[in-house]
Amino acid sequence: MTDATGLRRGLTNYGDSDFAVYLRRSFARSMGLSREMLEKPIIGIAMTPSDFNNCHRSMPELVEAVSRGVLAAGALPRAFPTISTGEVFLNPTSMVYRNLMSMDTEEMVRAQPMDAVVLIGGCDKTVPAQLMGAASADIPAIQLVTGPMSTGRYKGERLGACTDCRRFWGRFRAGEIERDEIDLVEGRLAATAGTCAVMGTASTMAIIAEVLGMSLPGTAAIPAVAADRLVAAEETGKAAVHLLTHPRKPSEVITEKSVENAMRALMAVSGSTNAVVHLAAIAGRRGIRISDARLNEISGETPVLVDLKPVGKGYLEDFHHAGGVGALLRELKPLLHLDTVDVMGQALGDRLEEPLDWVDREVIRPMDNPVSRRGGLIALGGNLAPKGAIFKRAAATESLFEHEGRAVVFESLADLAKRVDDPDLDITAEDIMVLKNAGPVAAGMPEAGYLPIPKKLARAGVKDIVRISDARMSGTAFGTIVLHIAPESARGGPLAAVRNGDRIRLSVAEKSIDLLVDADEIAQRLADYELPEMPVRGYQRLYARSVTQAPEGADFNFLQHEDFARWGEEGET
Ligand code: FES
Repeated sequence: MTDATGLRRGLTNYGDSDFAVYLRRSFARSMGLSREMLEKPIIGIAMTPSDFNNCHRSMPELVEAVSRGVLAAGALPRAFPTISTGEVFLNPTSMVYRNLMSMDTEEMVRAQPMDAVVLIGGCDKTVPAQLMGAASADIPAIQLVTGPMSTGRYKGERLGACTDCRRFWGRFRAGEIERDEIDLVEGRLAATAGTCAVMGTASTMAIIAEVLGMSLPGTAAIPAVAADRLVAAEETGKAAVHLLTHPRKPSEVITEKSVENAMRALMAVSGSTNAVVHLAAIAGRRGIRISDARLNEISGETPVLVDLKPVGKGYLEDFHHAGGVGALLRELKPLLHLDTVDVMGQALGDRLEEPLDWVDREVIRPMDNPVSRRGGLIALGGNLAPKGAIFKRAAATESLFEHEGRAVVFESLADLAKRVDDPDLDITAEDIMVLKNAGPVAAGMPEAGYLPIPKKLARAGVKDIVRISDARMSGTAFGTIVLHIAPESARGGPLAAVRNGDRIRLSVAEKSIDLLVDADEIAQRLADYELPEMPVRGYQRLYARSVTQAPEGADFNFLQHEDFARWGEEGET
C-alpha cells in the first residue's frame, strides 16, 4: 500500500521512481492537462459504454456529469473503460462474463493511479461485477447506476422490458396474437435509455447497491432519462472527492450486517432470483457467507412491500416517484441493522431519521398492509438439491406449491431447443419439466430456467407448469420454477440422476425438491453418469474449471476472499 496520491500513486516499475513520475507527467501532459491539474488527487471513473449495451446508452452524459462533480470538488477525473456486458447481446450468456468484468474492474482500479473510483454500471451483470471488483480492490469506491427505462405504450397499455416482453411472447406462442402485433410490441418494449423497467435483476441490484451503502441515498431508481439522474451523477462525483478526506473502503461498507440489510430489501421488493447469486458473490469477496437457513429466516420475517412487476403492477419509475429506497427502508426499519454505515459515513439509522416528504402507498405498502406477509424468495433443500436451490414463490402459482409429478427430462439446452415444441412430446400440465446441464460449469448458468411451456400445452391454455433446473431465470420472468439447483448436474449433483418418468415432489411448505427414487438407485445412476466434456482452451476453460456453484455466487474460486480461497477444489488440476 502506498501513501502517494494522484499521479504518483502506483508507479510503473522502471527501477527509478523519480523517472517514473517524470515520464508519467510528461505523457499525461500530452492529454492537454496543465501541471496544476496533474498535481490534483485523481478520481477514476469506471465507465462501461458499448454499442452492444443499450442499457448504457446514457453513459457519455453520466461520465460528463460525474467529471463535472469531481472537478467542482477539486480533483482530477479520469474515465477509463472496462468491458461492458449487455444482457441480450452475449453468447452463451452474460453470466459467463460477469467474473471477467469483475477481474477487469478490480485490476484496472488497482493498477491505475486513482485515489478513489466511481463505478458506473446498470445492466444486469455490470453492477455486481463492479461491486465484486471494488470489494476486492478495496480502495474507496462509489457506485452509480444508469437508472431504469421509462415505460412505452401499446394501445393505451404501459409496456416495460422485460416482463411485458415475456407476456406478449407467451401470447404469441399460444396463438393469441398474430405476427404483425408482436412486431409492433417489439418496437415499444424498450422505450428509452436505461435498464429494464421492472423489478428485474438490474433494478434489484441497483437497490442492493444503495442498501449496502455503496451508492448515494435515493439514487437507485431515478429514471435513466430524468434530469435528476444527471444531478445524482454530479453528486456522486463530488462524493468521491469527499472520500479523499474521509476515506471509507468497500470492506468497511460491505459487512455482514449490510449484506443482511440488502437481503431484506431483496425480499421486500420481491426481487430477482439472480440477485441471490450476485449478492453471494459480492459478499464472498469480503469473506461473508449467506446460509440458506438465514436466507429463509429473513424471507420468513420480511413482507413484500413493493407492488411492481413481474409479481405486481407497477414499474421502477413508479417506485422512484413513490419514495424509492428511502421510503421502503423506513417501513423495514424494525427489521434492519441501523448501525451500518454507508460510503459517505452516514449510519443507516441516521438516514432514516431524516424526514420523507411523500410515500405513495399504492406502490410502497406499509408493514401492516403488505403485498405479501412473507418474502418473495426461499431456498429449497431436498435430495435433488443437497446444496440448495432457489424458488421465487411470489412469482409462482400457489396451486402448484405442493405438487408431485412425472419428470419430463431434457438432457441439455440443445435437447430442450430441439424437442420442447415437438408435437409428439409426451407431456401434460401435471408433469414436471427437468432441464440438466445448464449450471455454471456446464453452460455458464444461462437464464434458461424459465423453460418455455411446450407449444401444444400453451395452445391448450396451460399458463404454468413446474420446471426445475440448475440454470438461472430472468428477474423479469414468472412461473413455478425451481432454479440454481446445487450441485449442478455437470458436477454430479443428483439432478443428473433424474430420468423420464421418475416421480418428483415439490413442497414449498417443507422447502424441498425431491426425487422419489430409492437412494441406492440414485447413487448407482450417478456412478454411471457421464459428465459432459469441459472446454479445452481460453477463458471458457478457466471458467469451467474455476467457477463455484450458485450458493457461492458462481464466482471464481481464486477471486473469493482469502478465507474462502480454495483453488484446486473445484476441478483445477
Ligand atoms: Fe439490461 Fe435488462 S437488458 S437491464
